[in-house]
Amino acid sequence: MTQPALLQEVTPGFAVDIRAGLTKAPQKELPSKYLYDEVGSALFEVITALPEYGVTRSEERLLARHATDIVAQLSPDVTVAELGSGSGRKTRRILEALCKKHPTSYCPIEISRTALQLCRRELGDIERISIVGYEKDYLAGLAEVSEKRPDGEQLLVLFLGSTIGNFGRLAATRFLRDIRMMLKPGDALLLGTDLDKPVPTLVAAYDDPIGVTAAFNLNLLARINRELGGDFPLDAFEHVARFNPEVRSIEMHLRAKRRVTAHVAAARLTVTLEEGETIWTESSHKYRAEEVGPIAGDAGFACAHQWIERDWGFAESLLVAR
Ligand code: AVJ
Repeated sequence: MTQPALLQEVTPGFAVDIRAGLTKAPQKELPSKYLYDEVGSALFEVITALPEYGVTRSEERLLARHATDIVAQLSPDVTVAELGSGSGRKTRRILEALCKKHPTSYCPIEISRTALQLCRRELGDIERISIVGYEKDYLAGLAEVSEKRPDGEQLLVLFLGSTIGNFGRLAATRFLRDIRMMLKPGDALLLGTDLDKPVPTLVAAYDDPIGVTAAFNLNLLARINRELGGDFPLDAFEHVARFNPEVRSIEMHLRAKRRVTAHVAAARLTVTLEEGETIWTESSHKYRAEEVGPIAGDAGFACAHQWIERDWGFAESLLVAR
């Protein structure tokens, strides 16, 4: 017998966004942020351990290697705000280097309460750290942290993991501009970007042979079924990862293997997909290291420094608010 549904918290805006995305023509889409419920976040953690997905390990190597150097570029007295705390493993290096010099406040901003708790557990043992989590949207959380920090203290914003890649290039610039508006001149943003690499490497990273990424993607429909009373037949969909050379992004889609009609009760929606039709669920844009400076410039930052990991291809850029 299947378990009765657990008391599912309904994510605000979820039904509205699903309705908007699934009634789009010609390309149906779902916002990638909904990939990260409890199941999705756990699957993403597994993805980061896959040999084909080099992104996370590359960034970890980079931060392990250069934490001291990165911290040397900052004023000794900084408050750290992180957009999307993740597991906290990468951040540890930076925070340890900072706390060695000076007691440091660390403010993870994250819409998932579970992630905030994990992050506190992971990083709470660092000496001289004080952790204040913000269960908020990135920009709302950042505004609050920026306003509350003590006078004269520099703010360091961490936006790691190449999450910026989920935005299109224009939207990425706009988002950096939004961040810049919350900052004072001299504040800093450490931005992680996954770099361009050969297409077969990228496709393998987003379509791994044991199907973890496929499960991560399909979980979005399963989540709609669980939280919004949907009836998507999951066996009728397959995971697709393809490179879009025009915008240099790897796209994830869910493709209907046959004609499918499904209902989503909480969104008062009936949706039909033709055989072969896809729902676009995520884009991961890839960057050239030289591209970051000009984009940052458009958003009101100067690129002060860049650290590059060449084994996989990942860049960390320190952007300073002008
Ligand atoms: C967490 C957004 C950086 O785009 O590489 C991994 C998410 N999607 N495999 C990425 C993801 C499929 C990941 N980010």
